[in-house]
Amino acid sequence: MSDVLQFRDVRLSFAGVKAIDGVDFAVGADELFAIIGPNGAGKTSIFNVISGVYRPQQGRVLLGDADITGARPDRVARLGVARTFQNVELFRQLTVVENLMLGRHHHIRYGTLAAIAWAGRARREELASRARVEEIVDFLELAQWRRLPVGLLPYGVQKRVELGRALAMEPKLLLLDEPVAGMNLEETEDMARYILDIRDELSIPMILVEHDMGLVMDLADRVLVLDFGVPVACGAPKDVQANPDVIRAYLGESGPKVGETP
Ligand SMILES: Nc1ncnc2c1ncn2[C@@H]1O[C@H](COP(=O)(O)OP(=O)(O)O)[C@@H](O)[C@H]1O
Ligand SMILES: [Mg+2]
Repeated sequence: MSDVLQFRDVRLSFAGVKAIDGVDFAVGADELFAIIGPNGAGKTSIFNVISGVYRPQQGRVLLGDADITGARPDRVARLGVARTFQNVELFRQLTVVENLMLGRHHHIRYGTLAAIAWAGRARREELASRARVEEIVDFLELAQWRRLPVGLLPYGVQKRVELGRALAMEPKLLLLDEPVAGMNLEETEDMARYILDIRDELSIPMILVEHDMGLVMDLADRVLVLDFGVPVACGAPKDVQANPDVIRAYLGESGPKVGETP
């Protein structure tokens, strides 16, 4: 099957700091691909290169057949890349449903004038978007909070709303940046279940960035391990876990152990 994303020999540095130092991978059309590594390894920078926030000094990023290297973030989003952020980025005063509707704006094709001229079509698109948002509310079990401002909700639920907003974009590729960071055990288990449901029921390929090995080893089809912007290993979770370079570079003496939250 063809790859949904190719990340080819990318280098990115900031004033001498090599954030991404020759990273090369591809994500299959039905794959849950994980990237792990300690803080500062370059994980979020990879997402920022894919989504067009940073332009790499070297390398190529392809989404399907489209070269999106250096493309602007709104174009990358329109081409079907949705993401969640390491720190929740939502409109705190807006309700759950309103935040999810904002994820739909790429799909609502009318402007203000067109909306007046083509009120019928605009209304149909609006209704279709509302219906899709309600499906996502059900899928992520957000119904009890749907009319509440997001800022009032528990942290774990806010992370889920952010996932919902990304899903509302009906992405071809979903980027999840530390989706369980700061969550308690129950919230983490819930999130793991939703991630698996997205793969199995919605068939959306994902890149999951995580600091903690435990979750990734349970969920991912393949894992890329990074250390200071350099790829250390890439493969099936059990192979990566047993790789001596990974144990040395990522786990280190003082670093977190497998399955342990640092
Ligand atoms: N906008 C930026 N300006 C300067 N340095 C940055 C910037 N973004 C990331 N970096 C640096 O790049 C490296 C990788 O950061 P990041 O990709 O956030 O790592 P991770 O997500 O794995 O913790 C770090 O050394 C970080 O300080
Ligand atoms: Mg990060």
